[in-house]
Amino acid sequence: MSNLSLSQLVNSYQWRYAVKRFDPFRRIDEATWNALESSLVLTPSSFGLQPWRFYVISSPENKAKLSSISWNQSQPGDCSHMVVFTARKTVNEQYVDAFLAKTASQRNVPLDSLAGYRKVVLGFMQNNTGRQLAWSSNQAYIALGQLLASAAMVGVDACPMEGIVVAEYDKLLGLEGSDYTTIVGCALGYRHSDDHYAKLPKVRFDASEMVTHL
Ligand SMILES: Cc1cc2nc3c(=O)[nH]c(=O)nc-3n(C[C@H](O)[C@H](O)[C@H](O)COP(=O)(O)O)c2cc1C
Repeated sequence: MSNLSLSQLVNSYQWRYAVKRFDPFRRIDEATWNALESSLVLTPSSFGLQPWRFYVISSPENKAKLSSISWNQSQPGDCSHMVVFTARKTVNEQYVDAFLAKTASQRNVPLDSLAGYRKVVLGFMQNNTGRQLAWSSNQAYIALGQLLASAAMVGVDACPMEGIVVAEYDKLLGLEGSDYTTIVGCALGYRHSDDHYAKLPKVRFDASEMVTHL
């Protein structure tokens, strides 16, 4: 299925780095953006529940508002597209039922046939009371990882960003009092030719320390 060679895969991950300075004049073209957006929507999640919403901020006016609420980092303002990953605070029965209705229609199966699955999912969620946001947040990070990997593979630069003020992002996105809250951001675009971070060697522990083969 994949056209990417093994060395291309690893080279993509060597090529990518957390961009500190984006070229403010370069934009991600529509076709490329659409593919990256598909990578967000196609992200796998536990039980398939997709307890997230993604916000894409690409208008200059809206991006200009972001740096001051991102520890004064320049990336959100200078990038082409800023993605904000938000997660559901609670995964309630109503949400699970909406997901099951979608499953039934997409797979053309009766809703009743999903009753066993519904019980398992709701049982898991009830056991998770008080930790549902942590669980949803974990799922949102899978989407971040998938987006970072996808961007690297198509030659788009990115910077994952936890250096953001969650309460301010929630206010800007109109999330206050809603079922969702900001988790993490990701600025995407193209590196500035003067970003010296691009040339720094990667700092990673040796595979022999981090990976155990049994
Ligand atoms: C979840 C997450 C949040 C991060 N937040 C920031 C950030 O706010 N600002 C920033 O400049 N880099 C941020 N980084 C980048 C990391 O510092 C960087 O990925 C790490 O040092 C490894 O370097 P590399 O990505 O260049 O290989 C973040 C990375 C991750 C995965």
